[in-house]
Parts: sequence; structure tokens; C-alpha cells
Amino acid sequence: MDLADLADLAPPAHLRELFATDPQRAERYVAHAGDLRIDFSKHRIDDGVLDALVELARDRGVEARRDAMFAGERINVAEDRAVGHVALRMPSGSEFRIDGDDVVPDVHDVLDRMGAFADRVRADDRITHVVNIGIGGSDLGPAMAYEALQAFRHPRIRCSFVSNVDGADIAGVLADADPASTLFVVASKTFGTIETLTNARTARAWLVDALGDAAVAEHFVAVSTNAERVAEFGIDTVNMFGFWDWVGGRYSVDSAIGLALMIAIGPAAFREFLDGFHQVDEHFRTAPLPENAPVLLALLGVWYTNGLGFATKAVLPYAQELARFPAYLQQLDMESNGKSVRLDGSRVDHDTGPIVWGEPGTNGQHAFYQLIHQGTHVVPVDLIGFAKAHHPYQQHHDLLIANLIAQSEALAFGRRNEDEPHRNFDGDRPNTVILAEQLTPSVLGQLIALYEHIVHVQGTIWGVNSYDQWGVELGKELANQVTPELTGGVDALRPDAHDASTNALIGWYRAHR
Ligand code: F6P
Repeated sequence: MDLADLADLAPPAHLRELFATDPQRAERYVAHAGDLRIDFSKHRIDDGVLDALVELARDRGVEARRDAMFAGERINVAEDRAVGHVALRMPSGSEFRIDGDDVVPDVHDVLDRMGAFADRVRADDRITHVVNIGIGGSDLGPAMAYEALQAFRHPRIRCSFVSNVDGADIAGVLADADPASTLFVVASKTFGTIETLTNARTARAWLVDALGDAAVAEHFVAVSTNAERVAEFGIDTVNMFGFWDWVGGRYSVDSAIGLALMIAIGPAAFREFLDGFHQVDEHFRTAPLPENAPVLLALLGVWYTNGLGFATKAVLPYAQELARFPAYLQQLDMESNGKSVRLDGSRVDHDTGPIVWGEPGTNGQHAFYQLIHQGTHVVPVDLIGFAKAHHPYQQHHDLLIANLIAQSEALAFGRRNEDEPHRNFDGDRPNTVILAEQLTPSVLGQLIALYEHIVHVQGTIWGVNSYDQWGVELGKELANQVTPELTGGVDALRPDAHDASTNALIGWYRAHR
């Protein structure tokens, strides 16, 4: 079974018919991973399609590549690195070898140091505000998880997240901050990212201005893999928490990059978060393919991308706390699988990663759901919800979950109206419903791990390297070239530096700045 064969698979009947002839599919097409109940019955599949997809996974070496990742092999071939984020959540005493060395003790050493530091901050009444400065994987994970786990945060400590090089971002946070009670966490895997260093310098100048140079040691810590650059920046490496080059930025929320989150929710809850990841890792590592939740969901995505030609996918959490989850998944998925060459550098001849987007329900219902229900594009959606809320307003929660369930039904079955075409709902709009008892640190870890492994399986099937991101480099390089051209003297303006349009944009900005 090959990817190209998907286009020849007979698409199954309309979901109305599939349910009418086989109501058991509502039980058969439910997967469980950790505490997650994943209903994938309202997808355009039948047993024939599903068997073919599982065969595709086998033929594309999904099991072998999964095992290679868990064996610490250098599956990130373009950068010649192991892919070890699953080691970050292994319980102490277990083993994950990279180049012969067990990395689990190192992981737990850092976790213990983070825990001791987090406890100290949580006990120190002077600190009320933690500002994480980072971008991409050094921002989205902790920012998303902090918001998701609001119910678990220390009542005295709030966190802010500054990422954008747009000064409006840091200006907004500093305007609302008091130097004496603020702790800055500068989070950057490379410690070479211009946005983060620019924001960190601005924050340091702001602090020094108020409290003097000596305050930096008390109010700045760093999270990085690059001790040299941390020291060069002026943060003592005793105040640095490390991680390793085998942790990709978008896979790093469970490393020291989660420090701000750990300070907010406490070391014990952070360990529960890691344990949630690990539960789904174990499911992914051991469950047979036909019961393996990340594998099944990945295969549905491949079926839609390559078999039916659906280019986008929406993630719609029915939980306000997960408002940043779609943005987090955009980096996880699109930076991983938005590729057009295979591992060996040859060009793919099939589509790869989908365009991922989404907003929390029910807000989206009053905005873009029109297109999802009646537009010409078919958008497979993930609906995520929880049985119990963290707030006391039960009536709100019942209404919220009623909407989630109703949307799942409306999308799949539609409503025929031959007399009034504007009111006709075709249905047959695929959706997954992911439910859990409550959004806890463990359940959030489970959800993230589920999506990480979906991305891994899809990358394997598409034959791309999910663990590099060369596509972000060209823009960075040109921005470095353009910056002095915007701000330098006349000498900085070479008429042959760029194409005519780019030169005109630079000229306009110079004249108007
Ligand atoms: O530009 C993309 C990227 O390299 C992401 O992959 C990464 O998460 C982000 O930048 C931030 O990088 P760093 O943690 O090294 O500052």
C-alpha cells in the first residue's frame, strides 16, 4: 500500500448511511489513550478504508521509525541528532540511551534543580510576577500551558509572556510590572534568537535603571542549551537551567523551557504534567497499530490530505483555558511537517502537512463555522471538551458541552432541505471528539503528547524530516540584511541590493520612519 494508492480507494458512503447500516461504529471507532476518550466514528471511513490505512502505516515503516525514536537513534538525519523529547518525561529509574549514555538521570537532575528553584520563588513573597521572554517553542508551550492550567496556579504569582520583537509586546508587560517583584526567565534554546535577545536587553535595561546592576543576578534566570552565550549575555550560569540539542524547540515545553509554568503550578503539578505525556508515550510505543490513538488520528489526516484532498484542519477546544492550544499546534504541526523534500533531499510528489488553525468554541461558531458547515472546502475538525469545569457556573458548562456535541452531530449528519437550498446542510463533515474528565496537568500532557505523536507518524508516512525547520532561515537572514539598510546612512542603500519592489519598500520606510 502506497500513498498514491489512497486516491484510488473508493470513498465510503455518506456518514448518514454509514451510521444507518452500522450503528456499532459508534463503539468500534473509539480509541483510548490515558484518560482521553477519542471518538473517531464520524469520519469518512469504513473498515475497508481503515484496514488500508493501517496497511499503509505498516508499509511506510511507522513501527520501525517509532521504535528508532524511542531507541534514541539519530532520526533527525538532516541535523544528525536524536529526537529525545520522550526522555524528558520518563520516570527516574527508567532508561533512554543516546549514543550509549543514559540521559534520564540528567533530565531528573535538571528537574530537581528547577523544582528547588520554583519552590524558592513560590515561598518568596517579594516575587509576584514571572515574565518569560522567548519565542516559538520557547514561548508557545509555556504560554499555552500556563493559560490552560490557570486553576492550578499559585495565587500570588502571575506569569506574562513576551515574544514579539514588536516593542508593543514588552512595553505592555513592563508598563504593568514592578521591578522589585518581577523575575525574568529568558528562554532560548540557542540563545541567539534576535527577538528574544532584543527583548531581554530591554528588560535588563529597565531593571538596572530601577534597581542597579547588582539586581540582574536576583531577577534574571536563563533557560538554554548554550551556556557560553548565556554568560556572554550577562546571566551567571549558576542561574541557568539547561536542556539538550536532542530536544526540538517545539517539543520542549516539558524541558526547562517549562520553568515559568513550573513556578506557577508548582513542581508536583509539573511532574503530573510530565506523567501525562508519559502515559500517552507508553500507549504510542506499545499499542498495536489498529488501536493506537496517535497512529489512527495520523492516518485519518493522511487520508484527508492525500486521499480526499482536504488541505486544512481545525482544532476547536470547547474550553476557554485552551485558547492558545491551536496556536501551539500550529508550530508543532506546521513547523514539523510543512516540508516538500524527503529525508534524502528528493522532492515529494504528494501533499504533506495540513494548514492547522482554530479558536475555542463556542466563539468560533459565531464566526467561521458557517464555512465549515456550508462552504465548498471540507475542513476536518477536532472538538475537545471536558466533563467538569474549574469554575462554579454549571449552567455555562452544560451549555458549552451541549454545543460541542451538537456541532459534532450537525457536521456529520447535516439536515436536508431541498426546498430552501440556503438552509440545506450536506453534512458528511468529518470530526473527532476528544473528551476527558477534567483539564488537569496530566490531561494537558496527554493531549500534547497525542498531537506530537500524530505529527511524528504523519512525518514518517510523508517521508519528511519532522525535526528540522530550515524554512524559517531565509527570512531571518534577509531581515539581518535589511535592518541596517533601514537605519544606516546613505551608504547603506545600495540600489542593486534587492529587487525593485523591496528597494522601494526600504526607501519608503527610510523616508517615513
Ligand atoms: O525560528 C524558528 C525557531 O528556531 C523555532 O524552531 C524555535 O522554537 C524558535 O525559533 C526559538 O528558538 P530559540 O529557543 O533558540 O530562541
